[in-house]
Amino acid sequence: ISRNVSTDEQISSPLQIFGKAKKQINEIFVDILSYVAEASERIKDVNDKCPNVINTNELKSIIDYEFKVKGICEVLTRDHMKVAFFGRTSNGKSTVVNAMLGDKVLPSGIGHTTNCFLQVEGSQSGEAYLVTEGSNEKQNVESVSHLAHALNHEKQLNEKELVHVYWPKDRCVLLRDDVALVDSPGVDVTPHLDDWIDNHCIDADVFVLVANAESTLMVTEKNFFHKVSSKLSKPNIFILNNRWDASANEPEFLDQVRKQHMERATDFLVKELKVCTTEEASSRIFFISAKEVLQARVQERKGLSLNSGALAEGFSTRYMEFEEFERRFEECISKSAIKTKFLNHSQQGKHLIKDMLKIMDTIYNRSQEQKNLKLNEIKKCQEKLNYTEQSLISITNEMKMKIHQMVDDVEDKVSKALSD
Ligand code: GTP
Ligand code: MG
Repeated sequence: ISRNVSTDEQISSPLQIFGKAKKQINEIFVDILSYVAEASERIKDVNDKCPNVINTNELKSIIDYEFKVKGICEVLTRDHMKVAFFGRTSNGKSTVVNAMLGDKVLPSGIGHTTNCFLQVEGSQSGEAYLVTEGSNEKQNVESVSHLAHALNHEKQLNEKELVHVYWPKDRCVLLRDDVALVDSPGVDVTPHLDDWIDNHCIDADVFVLVANAESTLMVTEKNFFHKVSSKLSKPNIFILNNRWDASANEPEFLDQVRKQHMERATDFLVKELKVCTTEEASSRIFFISAKEVLQARVQERKGLSLNSGALAEGFSTRYMEFEEFERRFEECISKSAIKTKFLNHSQQGKHLIKDMLKIMDTIYNRSQEQKNLKLNEIKKCQEKLNYTEQSLISITNEMKMKIHQMVDDVEDKVSKALSD
């Protein structure tokens, strides 16, 4: 897939490789579906006309394959790249999600503690709405305050639940390119970490730990990721040391603090979780200020320049580091999602076609055998008929000769009697 994609037209972001791969694998499965549907139609037809050629198991398998391929096609059209954000409460998870979306989509800050899982994904129709777990009702949301209000007034919401927030695709590149971003309540507020992982993390392609650069990594945060990496093999984890703008107040400690955070975060990924190498860790750990990035991007949306607000010293460096995080993140999520989502499907597709071919071959061979048997029977009948025909001819000839002789005899006797 990646080989074909890279030779294809211009791709400006690694995320688009996922989109292209998704389109291609979808097209392949649509083709497979039409072959399987045609094969199944023909097999049913043959079975109606010659009921003894195909056995019931074969017939059932062929019909099952059609359903399986239809199932894969449906999953494929829904497949997206998923990133989940975790960390202690108030570390800035919702702010990071908003910064990446480039807009204030999710409620954040005082009075807006995230109280359930929120999955932001692109809305096909272009409208903004939310759907709560177990419901099909689309609740319209026009703004953040509207969304915050709707979330606060969903009485049955509990922290394990998932609310889907559909946001217009044209408002954010990530959503347009099929990324779903999952915000979570603080890992310190729940006793249900296992349920969280089972319900919301199993299919995540990337995890982002939003840590607070003003403190050190907490045991609750570490525990959560220990659990994640025990359930998933080598999860892709990024660590964002957020609130790095606070360091501007203490420039004399900046390098020292950064070095210390870097060492601890690297040890956590490399030695404790064993999810990456030391070199890889350096492109997984970033020092950022989500608040600043969000502010700047909101300003930019309004047509103002990026750094027109009141900003702390070192803003541009932090902004660039956030962009570097986004670039690494895009590469990682696209690669991982293609591998985990599509590799599996393409292998399934290959097995399915192989199994189906085997059944078709068996049916074909059986029909050939039956044809040969029938041809043999016909040949034997033919031989018998030939023999009978020959016998009849010789009997008839004999009879004819005998009759002639008898007639001659009689004629002889009669003429003798007459001459006497
Ligand atoms: P919960 O949902 O309650 O768990 O919190 P959260 O992790 O989603 O944090 P949220 O994004 O709501 O941010 C909490 C507060 O921190 C808000 O007032 C943000 O404006 C502020 N904040 C977030 N990121 C930064 C940052 O980089 N720098 C500074 N100075 N403040 C930040
Ligand atoms: Mg939040």
